[in-house]
Amino acid sequence: MTEMNPEELYAAQGCTGCHGGNLEGGVGPALTGVGERLSADEITNIIVNGKGSMPGGLASAEEADILTTWLLEQ
Ligand code: HEC
Repeated sequence: MTEMNPEELYAAQGCTGCHGGNLEGGVGPALTGVGERLSADEITNIIVNGKGSMPGGLASAEEADILTTWLLEQ
């Protein structure tokens, strides 16, 4: 991957399967407005380490940073 596009990462890392193609949620909670509930550090930590039934290791630290920055804008 040359340029890491957050929307492509979101799909490629399998986030869509649990959080939906439009962040509407599914097995996992909806991710729209997640920045109002969690800090950037908390979001990055969940993406790297997982939480509850969300597995960790889905994204590298760098990918998690890109995803977090993008999620905070949704
Ligand atoms: C196997 C299903 C699954 C996959 C795949 C998955 N998640 Fe999750 N995710 C969950 C579940 C379930 C929770 C709720 C965990 C809890 O609070 O106990 C969650 C929680 C979160 C949260 C916190 C949301 C909140 O409001 O508390 C974020 C952010 C998140 N996921 C992002 C991602 C991203 C980004 C990816 C892709 C790298 C991803 N998830 C992949 C199931 C999944």
